[in-house]
Amino acid sequence: MKVLLIGSGGREHAIAHALATSEKCSMLFIAPGNPGTFQCGENVPIKADDIDGLLAFAKENTIDMTFVGPEQPLALGIVDAFDLHGLRIVGPNKAAAQLESSKAWAKAKYQAYGIPTAHYQTFTAYDAALYYVKERASYPIVIKADGLAAGKGVTIAHSLDDAKQALHDCFVDQVFNDAGNCVVIEDFLQGEEASIFAFTDGKTVVPMVSAQDHKAIFDGDKGPNTGGMGAYSPAPVVTDAVVNKVMSRVFTPLIEGFQRDGITYKGVLYAGLMITDAGDPYVVEFNIRFGDPETQIVLPKLDTDFLDILIAIDEERLDQIELQWKPLFSVCVVMAAKGYPGHYESGHPITGIHDSSDANSYVFHAGSRQTPKGEFETSGGRVLTVCGEGETLKAAIDSAYERCKRIHFDGAYYRTDIGQKGLARLKQAV
Ligand code: AMP
Ligand code: GLY
Repeated sequence: MKVLLIGSGGREHAIAHALATSEKCSMLFIAPGNPGTFQCGENVPIKADDIDGLLAFAKENTIDMTFVGPEQPLALGIVDAFDLHGLRIVGPNKAAAQLESSKAWAKAKYQAYGIPTAHYQTFTAYDAALYYVKERASYPIVIKADGLAAGKGVTIAHSLDDAKQALHDCFVDQVFNDAGNCVVIEDFLQGEEASIFAFTDGKTVVPMVSAQDHKAIFDGDKGPNTGGMGAYSPAPVVTDAVVNKVMSRVFTPLIEGFQRDGITYKGVLYAGLMITDAGDPYVVEFNIRFGDPETQIVLPKLDTDFLDILIAIDEERLDQIELQWKPLFSVCVVMAAKGYPGHYESGHPITGIHDSSDANSYVFHAGSRQTPKGEFETSGGRVLTVCGEGETLKAAIDSAYERCKRIHFDGAYYRTDIGQKGLARLKQAV
């Protein structure tokens, strides 16, 4: 099969690797790709949000299957466009993509389907929103721009002043453009965060191994949120009992509710959860795609052919697939450019990527590019995802960090505490 993968991050390098190793994949194209995906297939210089360009490419090259990494093309309706032209693509259509592209829409669905989530209200005007915050008088309170804001649209307001600032950003300064014209204000949830991805064909939901992301830029979860600075999998907080509750209280009601509402959702579901001390899961958010960087440690553990899964989703026979996973712990550390998630420099040479004989560690490219001489240099905020795996979480952490130490670029920054929360929880359990 000729396969087209859309995207250019570390996540897409991991997905490209999974597709390239599928027996059924005869040719792999990645649009636009990165130096890592270049090792897995052919990079095509079409941007991920250029729906017309991608459609024309898929038609001209008789692509048999397309898979989408990031949320933007899905929110723009790439699945509807490909469907219209009879091209096979796996992902939610534009209506279903609102699960991520509109937090107000998503919250209304959780409420209608009885899915546990934080109490909330939506607002389209500054004064009414501020009045609600004052009335609620409980801090922290969470203020979220409704639309896609590249992970920056959420403020945990610890005071009325914080809340005022966040509302001002959305409604007055319009820092999120149209994405901030509507705002969700919700109660703060206590607990430990974890993510569970699942495949779905719209009828059956098959969960993957859990992961825990580290969103804040600094150690100890301090500083502003980023796209994700590292992750480990599985997350010990997600016990079998928690997975069962996520299936019965979250995934199943969501898919059954969508069926009742006539919404077809096919592809990957990303449940961002808060797990309470009692082990009860609450939905913080849903994404309509794989997470980055969690995918870089989840997919390499998948022992089932990834393309077979995509075909089963497309043909609505996911119930016939049983996922096999390597029973390993894995950890990834994001090496970022100095200044990220704010302004950062690019164009710094990267050395040492291949400087290791450790078979338990591997590197995925993200914000990197290759010079005409074939050397790597930085080109984005999150530059590389450095991963380690092992039979214990500790071994996986050590392996990832050993690999990081061999890689150099000017201003390289990474957190030093990825996985420590998991280690602490495992010790507690002993
Ligand atoms: P979101 O984009 O909705 O996932 O929010 C980004 C991050 O903000 C989440 O990963 C959480 O760390 C935090 N967050 C969002 N909503 C809540 C909430 N209701 N309670 C506590 N933390 C939250
Ligand atoms: N790692 C968080 C995300 O992909 O949204």
